[in-house]
Amino acid sequence: MKLIDARKDHFRKLAREEGYRSRATYKLRELNNAYRIIGPGFYVLDLGCAPGGWTQVAVKLAGNKGKVMGIDTVYVEDIPDAYIIQGDIENESIVDEILSYFERKVNAVICDISPQVIGKWSVDHARQISLNYSCAKIMEKVLVHKGNAVFKVFDGEYSNEFRDYLKEKFVKIKLTKPSASRKPSSELYYVCLGYLA
Ligand SMILES: C[S@@+](CC[C@H](N)C(=O)[O-])C[C@H]1O[C@@H](n2cnc3c(N)ncnc32)[C@H](O)[C@@H]1O
Repeated sequence: MKLIDARKDHFRKLAREEGYRSRATYKLRELNNAYRIIGPGFYVLDLGCAPGGWTQVAVKLAGNKGKVMGIDTVYVEDIPDAYIIQGDIENESIVDEILSYFERKVNAVICDISPQVIGKWSVDHARQISLNYSCAKIMEKVLVHKGNAVFKVFDGEYSNEFRDYLKEKFVKIKLTKPSASRKPSSELYYVCLGYLA
């Protein structure tokens, strides 16, 4: 077995054993250990949440004083202590639904969004960045001053432009690749700390 497959297999096995719905869970855990994106009592919005691994982690990190909402176009099975809706983040009315659930702005927005990939990198990359701009537009309406965010980015032609867009809005931006992320994949995570709203 190749090292990459072994690593992939390791996180998948761990997720099964620990009751998490995705190996992506370990990416958020690692990012949070390094940057404390989510803390106890945080209100957290998870955009593109299916099957729900990040939402499960967010519920744990936010604790019983926190609130977590996940949104995805596909159906997500209930997650205890999270509010999940099936919806499209490109639909502008989604912001009203978000604010009516939280009844105030949120402390963290987490986006692990991916389009349905077609295997043509230039198209997949452009579509993923476009989804990230839609997430960022939502974020601008719902994130509290000094709040945090994280965006998964398919790295390519437009990623620097997206990073520069975010840079203006946060005190600090870190580009990172957690160890649970497959080495050959061109995905990166932009961790954004201290929203300047
Ligand atoms: C990599 S998965 C997220 C995995 C998740 N973080 C986890 O740990 O289980 C990316 C998700 O983005 C969702 N997505 C793509 N376009 C979307 C859109 N326009 N609105 C909402 N969700 C979308 C996909 O349906 C997919 O479930």
